[in-house]
Amino acid sequence: MTDHNLAVIVLAAGQGTRMKSARPKVLHSLAGRSLIAHVLATAGELEPGHLIAIVRHERDAIVASISDLMPGAVIVDQDDVPGTGRAVELGIAALPDDFEGDVVVVSGDVPLLDAATLRTLIDAHRAASAAATLLSAFLDDARGYGRIVRGSAGDVDRIVEQADASDDELDITEINSGTYVFRVAPLREQLALIGAKNAQGEKYLTDVVGLLRATGAVVSALPVADGWRVAGVNDRVQLAEASRRMNEVIVRRWQLAGVTVDDPATTWIDADVTLGEDVQLLPGTQLKGATLVQTGATIGPDTTLVDCEVGAGATVRRTDATLAVIGENASVGPFAYLRPGTYLGADGKIGTFVETKNSRIGNGSKVPHLSYIGDTTVGENSNIGAGTITANYDGVTKSETVVGSHVRSGSHNVFVAPVTIGDGAYTGAGTVVRKDVAPGALAVNVSPQRNLEGWVEENRAGTAAADAAAAPPAAASDTA
Ligand code: UD1
Ligand code: MG
Repeated sequence: MTDHNLAVIVLAAGQGTRMKSARPKVLHSLAGRSLIAHVLATAGELEPGHLIAIVRHERDAIVASISDLMPGAVIVDQDDVPGTGRAVELGIAALPDDFEGDVVVVSGDVPLLDAATLRTLIDAHRAASAAATLLSAFLDDARGYGRIVRGSAGDVDRIVEQADASDDELDITEINSGTYVFRVAPLREQLALIGAKNAQGEKYLTDVVGLLRATGAVVSALPVADGWRVAGVNDRVQLAEASRRMNEVIVRRWQLAGVTVDDPATTWIDADVTLGEDVQLLPGTQLKGATLVQTGATIGPDTTLVDCEVGAGATVRRTDATLAVIGENASVGPFAYLRPGTYLGADGKIGTFVETKNSRIGNGSKVPHLSYIGDTTVGENSNIGAGTITANYDGVTKSETVVGSHVRSGSHNVFVAPVTIGDGAYTGAGTVVRKDVAPGALAVNVSPQRNLEGWVEENRAGTAAADAAAAPPAAASDTA
């Protein structure tokens, strides 16, 4: 249910220089979603009455992405005044005048923060009738973060930024996570008062904390149990670390839902993947995008599936597949390459060293070995011989191959498209099928074989081959 007394402000106006990237920081991705997509999804789970995103650097790209993910979000452009305080000041100015509720502030670069942690923070804030409640963390390495300065009674006094901290303050290990809940009225009052007289010349949101305390308002800091939950992503080292953590969370969730994961460290599952019970994931498996794997299927080892659908009980080994559908109890790989538009029916097989693209292979049909199948439809229970290639491209246009049901094609065929092979037809080994084959026909076009007796002796005298040919046949072994 929508919480009309709740507004969430997502800060995403910063430059992200430490990523050293042409791409805006919050659009870098982990677990298949951009940093900001993770934050928006978490914010969305709170069902706030208002969701506001503050943008400035690379605003067009970021706005496009936000509007795509959350069309209801209000976009606010930050002006020339730098700092998180200014960002929030502009954010609350976008709220309706009669809004009297609480404002949650989160950063667009903190992707691991979850809704449960935010809810705990909001509940504590409301229970204490606090003016501000912030999420803190105790970190072994507090470098770069603002520190929580507590008074002798243990109450929060203020926050000091790394750049402005004294040596004593730098020893404080409790850091400001940059995640807060504020009651809107006192926040608005204090934001109007803060200046930018600090090492960075910015309006610090964190200065509000000390000012609120000075008015006697209730301000508290709630330490989070797992410090990594609030880790910000500022460079690529932190991005990789956050990816690993996120993956641990996702893998664990699926394990508890009934998925066997042999090696969590080498199994990567994107946030939008769906898995059934008794799915088994073998080492080196990467499931990306909106991949769906049904009950009892086995994936891996060393398999990457991007936006694929795998049916119940199927087996997919050492395979790279994108936008492919694999039917129930079908078998794929090892060493298969399924390109977009591949559809394999139930009990079907795409075997070893086979590449497929934009092709429908019907129930029970098999392409077991060394083939390229493109722009092709195969009916049911057909077998495509080893080493068969569909010649689907004449250099100008792509054409289709149609293979019926119960077809048996010989090894090493070329199907020169457009061409149709009727139901129940056969083709001989080495056939180049250029003309349609009627149902039940046998197609052969290989010229008769000629053996030129004695050719080696005449043309290759003195070679090992000639000697071997001249030697008497080896005596049969008498051990049998
Ligand atoms: C901020 C906090 C610090 C905290 C840390 C946690 C302040 C002054 N400091 O520091 O106490 O420990 O986060 O990660 O708030 N942003 C804007 N507009 C701006 C500046 C920043 O929207 O003018 C956004 C950034 O895009 C980012 C977030 O605010 O999403 C935090 O900004 P950042 O520059 O990373 O702040 P820190 O120096 O990390
Ligand atoms: Mg930061």
